[in-house]
Amino acid sequence: MKAAVLHEVGGVPRYEDFPDPVAGDGEVIIDVKAVAVENVDKAIAAGTHYAGEKYVGRLPVIPAFDGIGALPDGTLVGFGNIRLPYGALAEKTVVPQGSYKPVPDGIDPAVVTVMASAITAMSVRTAAGFVPGETVLVQGATGVAGRLAVKVARLLGAGRIVATGRDDAQLREVRAVGADTVINTAVSDEALAQAYLDARGDGYDVVLDYLWGRPSEILLRALVPRSFAFGKPTRVVQIGESAGTELALSASSLRTSGVEVYGAAKGFDAQTIDEVYQQVVTWTRSGELTFDVEKVPLSDIETAWRRTDLKGRRLVVMP
Ligand SMILES: NC(=O)c1ccc[n+]([C@@H]2O[C@H](COP(=O)([O-])OP(=O)(O)OC[C@H]3O[C@@H](n4cnc5c(N)ncnc54)[C@H](OP(=O)(O)O)[C@@H]3O)[C@@H](O)[C@H]2O)c1
Repeated sequence: MKAAVLHEVGGVPRYEDFPDPVAGDGEVIIDVKAVAVENVDKAIAAGTHYAGEKYVGRLPVIPAFDGIGALPDGTLVGFGNIRLPYGALAEKTVVPQGSYKPVPDGIDPAVVTVMASAITAMSVRTAAGFVPGETVLVQGATGVAGRLAVKVARLLGAGRIVATGRDDAQLREVRAVGADTVINTAVSDEALAQAYLDARGDGYDVVLDYLWGRPSEILLRALVPRSFAFGKPTRVVQIGESAGTELALSASSLRTSGVEVYGAAKGFDAQTIDEVYQQVVTWTRSGELTFDVEKVPLSDIETAWRRTDLKGRRLVVMP
């Protein structure tokens, strides 16, 4: 079969022949149809992801660990839990029986691959307990996940949505999909802190954080009251780390600003994920929630892997 094969950590997968997977006891072969290539896949291939050792510990390996494919009887499913070295970026892969679930009818498989990013955005409710009318700040709103978070917050009934990015043209697009106010983070630390204060209205209720690093450090510092007073509680959901894996958190940020920090996984269990998934499916079917995808054939993987021009569109490989 043809596959995207990674030969060295930090390298680019190459389109080449690879032995077909053979199903062992309790396994099933998947005929792969669509795979979203995300930052996490690139970080694993680069050896920089905290959970990556398992995937790149033995090379060569086929990257990506989930996708959409067909079972031997033709049923279209979302699959995961691949058996290494057979990742998802190939014509075929192999997973344990049951490590898949049917995809919703009538939705393009390429779109289904991207729905996971909208599900994560639902952590605004599952992790932060968002209620309609609240003010939401999306940190890193020009990326695929951040744009979806703006759309999801709008659909859930946010009172105000403030969105950040570092490119004015992309921020105009983010405004067009639902942000009320945008902040360009590519300014001095002082100017950025002031921009967060100017845009907060009566305070941020929830922050969906896809950036971490410098912008989030400045935000948390800006939320500290300038007098002996208590700030409005702000629930921060940590989702991504596009701007940095670490930040300095001052004692006063936690002590006085009412900041609470959660991981995006908080509140997710099998039942909640199912409910959230159904909501995302309903919005997608009705056209209320749209996904920007850039489909490429598997044979283009080397060029596609290096692309930096996607600007809010998810790269989806169609083997
Ligand atoms: N936990 C989850 O389930 C989950 C799900 C989806 C995503 N994520 C995480 O969320 C983050 C974003 O994912 P994505 O898929 O939306 O990625 P993406 O489409 O590549 O977008 C990345 C975003 O980060 C911005 N960015 C990149 N480097 C930056 C820097 N140094 N300073 C400030 N902004 C920077 C980009 O701005 P430009 O447009 O200006 O380049 C863009 O807005 C990643 O860390 C990803 O792993 C997590």
